[in-house]
Amino acid sequence: MLVRIPALLTPEEVAHCRAVLERSAWIDGRHTAGDQAAGAKKNLQLPVESQEAQALGDIVLRALGRNPTFNSAALPLRVMPPMFNRYDPGMTFGMHVDNAIRAIPGSGGMRIRADLSSTLFLTPPEEYEGGELVIQDLYGTHQVKLAAGDLVLYPSSSLHAVSPITRGSRWASFFWSQSMIKDDGMRAQLYELDLAIIEARAAMGDGSQAVLRLVNHYHNLLRRWAEL
Ligand code: NI
Repeated sequence: MLVRIPALLTPEEVAHCRAVLERSAWIDGRHTAGDQAAGAKKNLQLPVESQEAQALGDIVLRALGRNPTFNSAALPLRVMPPMFNRYDPGMTFGMHVDNAIRAIPGSGGMRIRADLSSTLFLTPPEEYEGGELVIQDLYGTHQVKLAAGDLVLYPSSSLHAVSPITRGSRWASFFWSQSMIKDDGMRAQLYELDLAIIEARAAMGDGSQAVLRLVNHYHNLLRRWAEL
């Protein structure tokens, strides 16, 4: 399931991120890639331990915390500190798979299972050509290029790539989440049910017996399936 989250960051937050990234020192992105992925990867990243990456990462994490769509669709247990990357003309990331297990930097060896990948776009699409995020899933190949401040959430199990940049520069934040619901299909069912409950509450009101039973059903499924 691909979920688009519009305006995760406010325009002011995007402008602040861009101003900080503008004066940051970028390094070769192969530092954080697995073996297969490193061969396909040609981009720039902020060093994970840099002050800039940590300060901007906190802004992204706060925005995730206040976003109901992210919380409903991802049902996050842990989120990796967000990272930041940049693709200039000629840069690309060929088709690859993200590592399933990752160590959380600075945690003393704590690991997370990457269930969900997120890309948060920080440059408006008109500022660059190419640079689409290409995601392959059971339903085909999707090309994603969103407004600055928008996020796309997709299963880390999908093969994906970033098309070569032919003009301008594409800046983004990316990170992985471990979900309380490991299985993509089960998580998608809970998300659909949550959306249906929101509609039912609006149509019938919170006093409705049907709404009460649906909310109960949602929580009982979550109780049954969640792994903490
Ligand atoms: Ni990737």
